[in-house]
Amino acid sequence: MSSSSEIVVLARNINHYFGQKLLRSQILFDINLVIKSGEIVILTGPSGSGKTTLLTLIGGLRSVQEGSLKFLGWELRGASNEQLVKVRRQIGYIFQAHNLLDFLTARQNVQMSLELHRNIPNLEARLKSEAMLHAVKLGHKVNYYPTELSGGQKQRVAIARALVSQPKLVLADEPTAALDSKSGRDVVTLMQQLAKEQGCAILMVTHDNRVLDIADRIIRIEDGRLIKNQDFSG
Ligand SMILES: Nc1ncnc2c1ncn2[C@@H]1O[C@H](COP(=O)(O)OP(=O)(O)OP(=O)(O)O)[C@@H](O)[C@H]1O
Ligand SMILES: [Mg+2]
Repeated sequence: MSSSSEIVVLARNINHYFGQKLLRSQILFDINLVIKSGEIVILTGPSGSGKTTLLTLIGGLRSVQEGSLKFLGWELRGASNEQLVKVRRQIGYIFQAHNLLDFLTARQNVQMSLELHRNIPNLEARLKSEAMLHAVKLGHKVNYYPTELSGGQKQRVAIARALVSQPKLVLADEPTAALDSKSGRDVVTLMQQLAKEQGCAILMVTHDNRVLDIADRIIRIEDGRLIKNQDFSG
């Protein structure tokens, strides 16, 4: 388990551009951000302000163009594909569309994320996956397929899948968007609880004002600029 002050994400002077030549336009401007282990940071901002772009950069899903972006001390800018794959293995992703595979059961969806990772014996992977589904209160649905689950239940499977490998960081992009307020609340509380137990950091994009109170810190992005980042200490 990491110490409470471990820096998970360290972004310095990040700029990002989309498009080529005349169509090239700057999307992110001079982003500075520190996220420490165990911290829950909520990222808000208008549609098109750059939230998902920032999340995918931090998650090693997109190349860093300018500035420095470190995950657990590893520089992502200029990192090789192999290095990025290693980084991604330590990150749990939860997106708005849960991206479950419909031809796998809940348990198989969760277990798949473990199998991508290391050589965990099959039985152990299976038990871990079932335990994580119990933790998200789906112990009675382990053998159900996604089409047989409600939206909230699918999102909880996605959370189980993201957390089963005990990542250092969870990146969540509007994980409650498709849910009613009660299920949304449940899903977020669960993420908070599991993250605190595992000591991992969470960076979550949300427009849902009802879940803001689970955050240790709320930051806001407008037109590609962070306008509130209380943790940034130079
Ligand atoms: N692959 C891409 N190519 C070109 N432009 C892009 C690409 N992806 C995003 N953009 C542009 O970058 C800007 C930021 O997009 P981004 O998806 O990060 O916004 P967002 O804050 O996540 O918005 P939303 O709340 O609607 O999800 C937008 O103007 C968008 O049109
Ligand atoms: Mg987005």
